[in-house]
Amino acid sequence: MDKIIRKIDGYSLELSRKLILGGQLVAFPTETVYGLGANAFIDEAIMNIYSAKKRPLDNPLIVHVHKDYDISDLVYDNEIAKIIRKNFTPGPITLVYKAKTAVSNLVSCGLDTLAIRVPSSEEAQKFLSYVDLPIAAPSANISKHTSPVTAEHVYEDFGENIPLILDGGRCEGGIESTVVDVTGQVPVILRKGLITKEDIAKVVGVCEYAESTSELNARSPGTKYRHYTPKTQTAIFKQSEIVEAIKLYESFVEKGLTPYFMCDSFVCKKLENKNCLDLGSNGKEMANRLYFLLHQGEKVADLIIAIEITQIDELCLSVNNRFLKAFGS
Ligand code: TXA
Ligand code: MG
Repeated sequence: MDKIIRKIDGYSLELSRKLILGGQLVAFPTETVYGLGANAFIDEAIMNIYSAKKRPLDNPLIVHVHKDYDISDLVYDNEIAKIIRKNFTPGPITLVYKAKTAVSNLVSCGLDTLAIRVPSSEEAQKFLSYVDLPIAAPSANISKHTSPVTAEHVYEDFGENIPLILDGGRCEGGIESTVVDVTGQVPVILRKGLITKEDIAKVVGVCEYAESTSELNARSPGTKYRHYTPKTQTAIFKQSEIVEAIKLYESFVEKGLTPYFMCDSFVCKKLENKNCLDLGSNGKEMANRLYFLLHQGEKVADLIIAIEITQIDELCLSVNNRFLKAFGS
């Protein structure tokens, strides 16, 4: 583990560059979650991502670049994209453009678009600037498992199967970037995230969610798969079903097992003296804690009982999207 997880310094950056040039994988921190990076120009490197993650081959990848990288070789730019970039990048947002043919066509699984993200985290920028290449990177977890927000989470999923995990501590944002299709007249959100529809509408004038499930499946194929699931038994209840949820909790305690609730601070307060993974009391806190607590919960709990979260602000919608998927609802 010591040899694989490394603090970001001159030695680990040089090692990361050699690995990336050789088509191998390097996990790195961002402000959202850890990414599993590979050289976007090399077909075999991209195949390494799909096989290490056991990721379905029709779920396209996001290309990450440093803040001074010229993306005009990779995609066709446009005015809406420029406005969004001016306001939100570097940051937790991914834009889907019409693609040129520069990177491996395995990155976008044959779609004629390419998703690009410029992360704001200093550690991500150090890595991306040092390699100075477009880096395709999904979240650094085995497909369907909870996304990683620490270097140790990445190691728990891949062990010695990846040669290097750059350690930047715990990710602040805690859930993945907002994915926005900027190929049309109106920006369309394909995946909710830390930057909200309101935020984008404020600067562009208009922003929509991809309407129907079938439209979303066609435009962003990854969204149809199960995601974020912890490796322990789970259940989910509405706040109005709290009595049933407590009955289930107590039935586990009677069997000598260890159940935990996962809920917001408001519900937690009502569950005095019970094991509780407290998500916090606003969207920002909930995003920051969700995956971290799912990872913690799967290690200590025989059952995680999720109680639907109170929708305090717009960011709660993004958290709720992951929360419902994690609990299979
Ligand atoms: O915050 C993030 O976005 C993290 C960090 C590592 O940057 N990455 C991440 O990647 O969440 P991943 O692979 O777990 O999710 C990528 C999402 C999927 O929903 C995928 O379908 C969508 O982006 N996507 C990628 N390329 C696309 C494209 N060309 N068109 C539409 N959707 C695309
Ligand atoms: Mg993912």
